[in-house]
Amino acid sequence: MAVTLIIGSQWGDEGKGKIIDYLSLSADIVVRFHGGNNAGHTVINDLGKFAMHLVPSGIFNPKAKATIGNGVIIDLDVLVAEVKTLEKAGIKLKGRLFISPRCNLIMPYHKIFDRIYEEAKGDKKTGTTARGIGPTYGDKVSYSGIRLFDLLDKKLFQEKLKTQLLIKNKILKSFNEKPLNQKEIEKTFFVAFKKIKPFVKEPFGIIHESLEKKKHVLIEGAHGMFLDNDWGTYPYVTATNIVSGNITAGAGISPKYLTKIIGVSKAYTTRVGFGPFPTELFDKDGETLTKRGNEFGTTTGRKRRCGWFDAEMIRFAAKINGFTDIAITKLDVLDTFDTIKICTQYSLNGKTVRYEDLSSEMLKKVKPVYKTLKGWRTPTNGVKTFSKLPTKAKAYLRQLEKQIGVKVSFVSTGAERESIIVI
Ligand code: GDP
Ligand code: IMO
Ligand code: MG
Repeated sequence: MAVTLIIGSQWGDEGKGKIIDYLSLSADIVVRFHGGNNAGHTVINDLGKFAMHLVPSGIFNPKAKATIGNGVIIDLDVLVAEVKTLEKAGIKLKGRLFISPRCNLIMPYHKIFDRIYEEAKGDKKTGTTARGIGPTYGDKVSYSGIRLFDLLDKKLFQEKLKTQLLIKNKILKSFNEKPLNQKEIEKTFFVAFKKIKPFVKEPFGIIHESLEKKKHVLIEGAHGMFLDNDWGTYPYVTATNIVSGNITAGAGISPKYLTKIIGVSKAYTTRVGFGPFPTELFDKDGETLTKRGNEFGTTTGRKRRCGWFDAEMIRFAAKINGFTDIAITKLDVLDTFDTIKICTQYSLNGKTVRYEDLSSEMLKKVKPVYKTLKGWRTPTNGVKTFSKLPTKAKAYLRQLEKQIGVKVSFVSTGAERESIIVI
């Protein structure tokens, strides 16, 4: 039996979609357990290029089922559009896609609040994706969320919405925002829900049947470890827990089933939004990473900040998540460098410090300690076997492995499904 969990081990956009699409070829069921359409997972395969925000990236294997767990929050319009795109590409979803009715809904006021909070914070803002993520989870944990369950019962939905608008419209008015209209929201939500309703069924039973039958269950983490609400660079984080243990809360799967926990990491580091980034580059090397890596956000199109690989971070991610394997992506982006640096640890006021002891404010002040390696200056794009990699690229990967203390089992050498080395 294989139960494989994929976790982003940096600040998101590590190439999880690419790895999941590849692994889903052998999967029986693919599960998402947290986040919302702040996630954007790029998949490039024989069916085309897709930016997946809610539907699991493993949907392209026609033999696999795909589930959206209760921990995911849903923007109905985005889900409807995604379903439409997939069906247009010839992907059959009926009987394959299952969405938990426990999923909370992103409401129109959540998106406005997201903007208001950010504006109020000024230059201390998080740099959210503006999708209403934080306010939706905020309402969820304070028992004010509206769920797909509620849309199954029109009256209940209307009642809950009325209560929420009573509160929300008062807040909106105090910020000189236009109050929201109950009837308009009802209308758009009921229309959109009609298109989603055939897929709304709690996936718990289907997942546990697969676990009992020892099928290959692939669990698709979103975002990245350092955006975790508790262990990330708070408050420059997202609203959910990213860590492996959250699969129980978000999809009803006990960690005891996991056989593989794969941490996905770029061969360097990127981040969108604000917050500390010890190895960030502001020079020509940073520009090269942006350009060669085409580092612009899949969800918002924002330019990603770029820097060297940070082993202090990934070591922490490996420990807390229990990584059994590492997948290194975008190795090909480093092909033109004369020298490549790896941050091996942090120094603060001349002393070695550990990630877990630092607040975001402290992390902004640390100095990365670097190990410099020679670049390979040879194209690796599309290489499929480890032995065919340049010697210096192999040495770089071995050094990463040594620094992290976990084996590198996958190396991605291009955006397409087949550009992958399995070690
Ligand atoms: P995710 O959110 O972790 O799924 O990552 P994104 O899809 O947001 O961002 C990763 C980007 O890198 C996408 O544009 C991918 O197509 C691309 N990509 C993934 N793996 C590779 C790789 O090995 N090499 C290159 N050059 N691009 C890659
Ligand atoms: P994938 O799954 C990159 C970041 C945002 C922002 C912070 C809070 O594609 O790797 P939010 O909208 O969640 O309230 O924003 O979290 N963020 C991501 N950055 N990739 C993601 O997902 C992200 N999900 C959230 O940029 O800094
Ligand atoms: Mg992404």
